[in-house]
Amino acid sequence: MEYEEVITGRRSIRGYRPDPVPKEVINEIVALAIRAPSSMNTQPWHLHVVTGEPLDKIRKGNTERNLAGVPASREIRMHGPYEGIHRDRQKKIAAQLFEAMDIEWTDKERRHDWVMRGFRQFDAPVSIVVTFDKTLENNDIAIFDCGAVVNCLVNAAWSKGLGCVINGQGIMQSPVVREHACIPDDEIIMSCVAMGYPADDFPANDVISRRRPVDEVVNFVGFDQG
Ligand SMILES: Cc1cc2nc3c(=O)[nH]c(=O)nc-3n(C[C@H](O)[C@H](O)[C@H](O)COP(=O)(O)O)c2cc1C
Repeated sequence: MEYEEVITGRRSIRGYRPDPVPKEVINEIVALAIRAPSSMNTQPWHLHVVTGEPLDKIRKGNTERNLAGVPASREIRMHGPYEGIHRDRQKKIAAQLFEAMDIEWTDKERRHDWVMRGFRQFDAPVSIVVTFDKTLENNDIAIFDCGAVVNCLVNAAWSKGLGCVINGQGIMQSPVVREHACIPDDEIIMSCVAMGYPADDFPANDVISRRRPVDEVVNFVGFDQG
């Protein structure tokens, strides 16, 4: 695929075929992803690729603890609920997804089911837990670097016919992830990326999220002088 085709075609995938993803394919994707730039080429990231029983244990533990009301225990700083324009955009993508899935706002049961899917990493056959070296804790640059590698990862996966969703919901209970993904004590869990072959018949997979127009995002300075 051409770069532009990958960038404009990629979207978050939230319905997967159960087919396993061969290790060789994941290796090829990771080899592309780790071409991401990082501060001083420090490459502070680690990618823990989890499948099978350990992933099922993460789904179960994450779901049970969230349902039991155990407060989220993310290992990076979190914002509170989104407000204002950010909340508006959050509501818009949720509305697009619910419309595709034919879920009414008033249908609490199906909305709850959707949240449960998120806690289970949308039943993807693979989850990639992204961590960085603890020596760089309290340093936002390492998190910036991990964002770069995750963006390369989801696009590389798309270019090879795989789908992903970056999935904060899936690792809300860090101790569960730490235990079953065997994360060493000297790493900080940043996020996870659910990955697999997209299901053809899952309507939310067709949702194209909107973007702000370029002229709203960009601020050109000094271009029109003399
Ligand atoms: C840091 C981060 C966390 C995310 N967490 C979730 C999540 O928990 N559940 C989910 O369904 N999507 C999650 N997403 C996916 C976003 O909702 C999605 O990228 C956004 O709506 C744009 O849609 P697109 O990826 O289809 O372009 C997350 C994305 C990012 C970057």
